[in-house]
Amino acid sequence: MNKLHAAEIVYHRPAGKGYYRLVLKAPDAAKTTLPGQFVMLRVSENLDPLLARPLGISSVIAKTSVEIYYRVAGRGTRLLTRMEPGRALLMHGPLGNGFLLPDKGGIPILVIGGSGFPPLLFLSERARSRQRVFIGSRNMASMPPAGVVKRFREKAEKMHIATEDGSQGKRGLVTVDLEAYIGNLKKDAKTVIYACGPRPMLAAVSKIAADSSITCYVTMEERMACGFGACMGCSVAVKAGGYKRVCKEGPVFDSREIEW
Ligand code: FES
Repeated sequence: MNKLHAAEIVYHRPAGKGYYRLVLKAPDAAKTTLPGQFVMLRVSENLDPLLARPLGISSVIAKTSVEIYYRVAGRGTRLLTRMEPGRALLMHGPLGNGFLLPDKGGIPILVIGGSGFPPLLFLSERARSRQRVFIGSRNMASMPPAGVVKRFREKAEKMHIATEDGSQGKRGLVTVDLEAYIGNLKKDAKTVIYACGPRPMLAAVSKIAADSSITCYVTMEERMACGFGACMGCSVAVKAGGYKRVCKEGPVFDSREIEW
């Protein structure tokens, strides 16, 4: 299938906490996109690779458009903020493997670290059951935008928020709450953890899951250059030996695979 699309911007505005919400009309991509997948967006006709950005997909809207949240993190995203609705951008994707959706009847456990929310927001919307949601960040300013937290809350049977400085929710690491919850949980085969965020948080979540024999899927956020498996720049070490490419074999991995 052709994965290159001229994606028309249909919505593009600041979303709070320094994020922008971008909606791109690309019906062929929207039809096949899975939670966990991403796109490479070229924000200029210039072939400078720094101007093609890997961006996680946070939802599919009206079966025709993909939704993206991003923050300015360099030249490419700075240029992107200036692009107005009506303009078409060259979009490559959806790329990567995506999550297996949780089984109906279980309560999926979502663990979000700061800016790692887009793939889990999409998963939360596609999952057919209510979820236990843990959101952690350094401080209130690095929490996801309020509109995003509200969307998680709508699908959550309970939500746990923690910031390291205590400026929102509990003070400390969200993994402390996660560990306490898992300790009291009656686990079954449908208990699955899905996590996305900074690597130290993913390593901690992975250990908690392994200690309780719970399946855990993580979305790795390595830096990417090409986005389609050619440069090896996004490789992560795996326990079986060698490396796997986040853009091609990931970005979703069973946490037991990764050499933390
Ligand atoms: Fe080039 Fe993954 S970004 S191989």
